[in-house]
Amino acid sequence: MSLTAQDHRILLNDGNNIPIIGLGTYSAPRITAKDACYHAVKVAIDVGYRHFDGALVYGNEDEVGRAVREKIDDGTVRRDDIFYCGKLWNTYHPPEMVRGTLEKSLKLLKFDYMDLYIIELPLAFKPGDVIYPRDESGNFLYAPTDLCATWEALEELKDAGLVKSIGVSNFNHRQLELILNKPGLKYKPTVNQVECHPYFPQPKLKEFCDSHGIVIVGYSPLGTCRDSLWVNTKIPSLLDDPVLNSVAARHQKTSAQVALRFLAQRNVVAIPKSFNPERIKQNFEIFDFSLTSEEMKQINALNRNERYVELLMWKDHPEYPFNEEY
Ligand code: A2P
Repeated sequence: MSLTAQDHRILLNDGNNIPIIGLGTYSAPRITAKDACYHAVKVAIDVGYRHFDGALVYGNEDEVGRAVREKIDDGTVRRDDIFYCGKLWNTYHPPEMVRGTLEKSLKLLKFDYMDLYIIELPLAFKPGDVIYPRDESGNFLYAPTDLCATWEALEELKDAGLVKSIGVSNFNHRQLELILNKPGLKYKPTVNQVECHPYFPQPKLKEFCDSHGIVIVGYSPLGTCRDSLWVNTKIPSLLDDPVLNSVAARHQKTSAQVALRFLAQRNVVAIPKSFNPERIKQNFEIFDFSLTSEEMKQINALNRNERYVELLMWKDHPEYPFNEEY
């Protein structure tokens, strides 16, 4: 497989393809300036990124859409050069809500289709526009989860031409099997977007997904930020890892570039988030070097089998995905 800055798409099981690197666009709204995402997406397109990962609940799909449309209008790209992935949130799992929710995102983006739409989490919450529904005592309000019914609604979006590909996120192998074994399955998930990086390379889930033609999209590929509100900061910072840094020095690269290249060489799509122009650029510069098989082995051995993003606040949900080994 030869990946270049110009051509680094990999095939999905429905015949479409996905750029192996994308820009993550989640940044906690409480600490993020308005238009930071808009500026980041424009810089990223100029640098060469063609893949953007977003979601309705990130609260900035309008900024992503505005940036992309401006870059289309100024002739830098065409809409079909761009790959956008959006996500169906937990409070919109009922099949009758799925199309309207997708259309809400399309309206914010001002796009007429999405390249990839995925179920963000296998956890149904009380349906409605309250993103984090809770009772008076502060407990989250859940709803019975029917992943197959929600999946069928995603299949309808694809048939309607509103999305090109469909997939899931944060599913364990049992939840993937539920979909794969569904009677009358029309389309298999193309991707499972999960946390993936050298400290949590997910070998078992990767092997399972490989055997079913499902591509892993790795979120938090740099070990995420150190926001203790939702990140397990007991795990040391990935980018400070001595092995990653010594490999990086050998290639005159950074630990971030080595972490991203490690995923790419495993055929894992990486979606590093940065809103900083220098780092956006740096994270795309992974096509001019490669890791030897010895270095791949060394980095694989860093596996701690621990997640930065544990989602422990939803551990009592019957479909909490991370109790399973993989
Ligand atoms: P910033 O947006 O200021 O660049 P992940 O993609 O694993 O979730 O990591 C995102 C975090 O890592 C963000 O805090 C981001 O901050 C930071 N980051 C992104 N790229 C780099 C890089 N090349 N070197 C160091 N930190 C980075």
